[in-house]
Amino acid sequence: MEHEVPTVEWAGDGLRLLDQTVLPGRVEHVVVRDVAALVDAIRRLVVRGAPALGVAGAFGVAVAMRQAAREGWDRAALDEAITRVREARPTAVNLAAGVDRVRPLVDEGAGAVLAAAQALLDEDVRGNRAIGAAGADWILGRLGDRPLRVLTHCNAGALATAGWGTALGVVRALHGRGRVEMVYVDETRPLLQGSRLTAWELARAGIPCAVQADGAAPSTILRGLADVAVIGADRIAANGDTANKIGSLGVALACADAGIPLVVAAPWSTVDLALPDGRGVPIEERPAAEILAWNGVPTAPEGVAAHNPAFDVTPARLVTALVTETGPLEVSAGETPLTAEGAAKGA
Ligand code: MRU
Repeated sequence: MEHEVPTVEWAGDGLRLLDQTVLPGRVEHVVVRDVAALVDAIRRLVVRGAPALGVAGAFGVAVAMRQAAREGWDRAALDEAITRVREARPTAVNLAAGVDRVRPLVDEGAGAVLAAAQALLDEDVRGNRAIGAAGADWILGRLGDRPLRVLTHCNAGALATAGWGTALGVVRALHGRGRVEMVYVDETRPLLQGSRLTAWELARAGIPCAVQADGAAPSTILRGLADVAVIGADRIAANGDTANKIGSLGVALACADAGIPLVVAAPWSTVDLALPDGRGVPIEERPAAEILAWNGVPTAPEGVAAHNPAFDVTPARLVTALVTETGPLEVSAGETPLTAEGAAKGA
């Protein structure tokens, strides 16, 4: 934990967020005190990653309540503002789930909402520790107790959660046991969560890593340079289909072809039992400018169209193991559908 910077915390009069848009160059925070600022921070990825969005959403209800009190809103205006937070980004189910978890407490006052949001934050950190240990156990059990070369995509670390991380929680646990030889970090076009955030976290934790272009990942895997791929998730359907950052599917296909395990590390709060399969996952389409320009400088001809889906869905048959806080489920071997009983054990 000593290497971590909190992503989301209540600051007394607002929500303090680590500004992930300026990492790795600067470590800065913003404090959001109104709903428009929070929705903007979520959309710009100041705060990002499914579990961190869940915690931000839960605290966001308190932000809305305080603004309502300051500005004299009626209940309908408050409800509408809470819904705006809930819908600020569509794919990670944790955002809506975080809001929904504390929303029933609105009538009990901001104190009750804040306590429930803090409980969610604490649970997330505890859950990540459990995911990390269970993931390391499963991987070493499957591949043998030896130093491993791990490939990861996007950022599913402390920065994407309330602390420690899911996929990077597994990597941290493996490293703690002396079992990480190298982490191949996909840079994660177009917003570079891999190179900017994952490599920053791994470097701070003293874990050896190399950043590679996303397009290098399948070749790294098929050349035998990685023993296992570990990624996070934004929404997992009941059959195990897994939505995660765009590019995850290419990693999964390469793992299947090379015969190495693809491990999805995620808390039960990322499982959406209302979805029988991945076809119903809403895929966020991000602004064209993220693809057509870099730092404001055009990288494509003027007037050309962009296709910028932020997530893809990996079919369950390609997910070797889903590791939650209750342990591993061998999804491609048929340990699905995911059930409410399983989710309850994780609660
Ligand atoms: O667009 P982002 O940065 O919010 O996307 C994040 C991811 O895709 C993560 O891999 C996922 O949320 C898992 S986080 C533990």
